[in-house]
Amino acid sequence: KSIVLTGITTTGTPHLGNYAGAIRPAINASKDEQVRPFYFLADYHALIKCSEPARVKQSSLEIAATWLALGLDTENAVFYRQSDVPEILELTWMLTCVTAKGLMNRAHAYKAAVAENEETEGNDPDKGITMGLFSYPVLMAADILMFNANKVPVGRDQIQHIEMARDIASRFNHIYGEHFVLPEAVLDDNAATLLGLDGRKMSKSYNNTIPLFEPEKKLRKLINKIKTNSLEPGEPKDPEGCTLFGIYQAFANPYELNAIRARYAEGIAWGEMKQVLFEKINDEIAPARERYEALLQAPRHIEEQLQLGAEKARAISRPFIQQLREAVGIAPIA
Ligand code: TYM
Repeated sequence: KSIVLTGITTTGTPHLGNYAGAIRPAINASKDEQVRPFYFLADYHALIKCSEPARVKQSSLEIAATWLALGLDTENAVFYRQSDVPEILELTWMLTCVTAKGLMNRAHAYKAAVAENEETEGNDPDKGITMGLFSYPVLMAADILMFNANKVPVGRDQIQHIEMARDIASRFNHIYGEHFVLPEAVLDDNAATLLGLDGRKMSKSYNNTIPLFEPEKKLRKLINKIKTNSLEPGEPKDPEGCTLFGIYQAFANPYELNAIRARYAEGIAWGEMKQVLFEKINDEIAPARERYEALLQAPRHIEEQLQLGAEKARAISRPFIQQLREAVGIAPIA
């Protein structure tokens, strides 16, 4: 069986970008009998960006409810919370010790933080940058390598981290023997980077997201807030680079997409395009939204599912970490 693995960081409410870029492809992959899915709440990752415990906890509930509402089959899938699998942290250390610092210097998230500091003249380039942020790709590599994932469905912003996981795995294999499979990213070209309300990448850290299960009225309001250019109805419009079109592309089939391209050429009014987009998203999401609301009222049930998932995950991670301990020479001496 091929192993498909992905995680969502528990720092906020899941949004359309998370859904189209990672969750939906992962749910679809989980329906293939040849696939063993590993989907998890990346709560150790949350500590890198967020020091509000209540928020991390609430986000864990919301993200877990999202997977279940979308119909993840927890019989087949291993659905767990990262922090319930402490072997991941042990592996993180083993990997840290074979990871070149220079590789981490090149990570986008770290580089962006340094660049932002350097914009302010005379500022310390490392201001506010923790070791958690700096070595974050190693933790992510451990998530992936712990279960020897073959395929990792993600949005474009995570591709570099998966390449780094491959590098780190190769390095470890080279030193200690072939223990790890080299993972590959799976990218859905129609949903690789959804843009947010302000036209930048939709992201929790930009505060420009459209939460996936926003109630219908609020969803409509948010879609109406998406920034457009000021072309009038009847003036031809360019779908390329248009936030509304980009999001529509993640939800529509090729036939619908062509029809909308034609409407852009004719000069569709932005108000009408927003209505079309709202309906498209709402039709896909509405049934799961009801299940989501109900699941939020049943945290015990969700916790039970996560506990079952943790048991399944640890049945794999415990023996594997023993194997790795042997490989690096930290096993019992007699
Ligand atoms: P996170 O929590 O930022 O995002 C979760 C997933 O959603 C995708 N995504 C998007 N896709 C398209 N358009 C967008 N605007 C958009 N915003 C987010 C992300 O690419 C991601 O796939 N480090 C990861 C979580 C993680 C992980 C892992 C993923 C931890 N360990 C192991 C895969 C494998 C993160 O912070 O994703």
